[in-house]
Amino acid sequence: MAGQIPNEKTIDDTIDLMKEGYLYIKNRTDDYHANLFETRLLGQKAVCISGEEAVKMFYDPEKFKRNGAVPKRVQKTLFGENAIQTLDGKEHLHRKALFLSLMGPDAQQHLAQMVRAAWEARIPKWEQKDRIVLFDEAKLLLCRCACKWAGVPLPEEEAEKRAQEFIDMVYAFGAVGPRHWKGRTARNSAEDWIRSVIEDVRAGKIEAKDGSPLKEMAFYEDAQGRRFNAQMAAVELINVIRPVTAIATFITFAALALFEHPRARDWVQNGDKQHIDWFTREVRRFYPFGPFLGAKVRKSFTWNGYPFDEGLLVLLDMYGTNRDPAIWGDPDVFRPERFRDWDGSLYNFIPQGGADPAKGHRCPGEGITQEIIEASLDFLVNAIDYDVPAQDLSVPLNKMPTLPESGFILQHVKKKT
Ligand code: HEM
Repeated sequence: MAGQIPNEKTIDDTIDLMKEGYLYIKNRTDDYHANLFETRLLGQKAVCISGEEAVKMFYDPEKFKRNGAVPKRVQKTLFGENAIQTLDGKEHLHRKALFLSLMGPDAQQHLAQMVRAAWEARIPKWEQKDRIVLFDEAKLLLCRCACKWAGVPLPEEEAEKRAQEFIDMVYAFGAVGPRHWKGRTARNSAEDWIRSVIEDVRAGKIEAKDGSPLKEMAFYEDAQGRRFNAQMAAVELINVIRPVTAIATFITFAALALFEHPRARDWVQNGDKQHIDWFTREVRRFYPFGPFLGAKVRKSFTWNGYPFDEGLLVLLDMYGTNRDPAIWGDPDVFRPERFRDWDGSLYNFIPQGGADPAKGHRCPGEGITQEIIEASLDFLVNAIDYDVPAQDLSVPLNKMPTLPESGFILQHVKKKT
């Protein structure tokens, strides 16, 4: 017999979601002592799920589909309309192979080296200032590097505006009101820009290197041999440049972690690769970025005795799974060495989604993310000395995505001698 899913019995919980943010799902799975509960969000019924078993179910393509799961408000800000995030089946796998082909070990190393050199080049400017905000510096620097790597010409005088547009798209995710509308304006402006770059490449007015994201997106053909229209190519090229820029958030958290756990400086100073890897993973597990993911039930099924009806919206709790005590001992403690005992499962460490990225929607950019954070840590420890003045380092959990309030201020930056 089918069991009853714990139920919020609410007319609509959207306001509570906005108030509790990252903790919304976790607060309730903790209260119900269950890994799922039913609620209503944005006027529709939804079941929220959390934990390793839930991740395994969520990434079963027989059970779930993405088409129809991403609200239009998120497509018009964060992802772009009809982007890879909304595809299923063969069409998704074919397009995913393109993304993965752009993000292998060579691209990861290339980008990390580019970022490391770009940080170094900023030092003389910073030495002339009393203080800098690390998040602001990171987003600008990463936007420049992402465009250069992708092959997209970025005039220097436009760099600040474009970096802000990519960040506005990301920070529109959980927002209503002005922050949401800023995201829409940013997307429209960036799509106009990148669409014209795609058109120029196709017309031979801009040269694009073979294998570069620009060239590959401009000339990609789907499984039926149809080329993207310029708009779709722009949306997917932005799906490469925007998330590289967004690594600024993790770099800011990594600097905070370094400040709060100074023993990690020794690992970075000594080039202790294993500990640096663990530290970077712990930054990605511990600090909040993506809160949850959505999918719709493809065909009715039963899970652990609970009914999941066709068309039901299901939200997977990324934040709560990364802090699930059944997976992580003392989950609220920042402890990089925990990764010594980690089983390497594709289903329990999910800051960028779960399962196999080649077979499902897991982020193809994890290698790039990990390498860029590590290169930035190396810079912060081995290239400069700085002070961390008194500032508001609190991380509000009711803002999705979030950030340390101050953006992490560095003072009296000096090149290391
Ligand atoms: C998908 C997070 C960096 C490109 C995703 C997903 C998450 C995520 C949660 C969704 C997984 C799912 O739907 O199951 C992040 C975070 C990053 C990051 C927190 C750090 C800033 C990157 C980078 C790139 C990238 C650097 C590319 C250079 C993508 C793409 C998808 C994706 C194209 C869609 C994949 C698909 O639908 O199959 N990412 N990501 N991401 N990410 Fe990332």
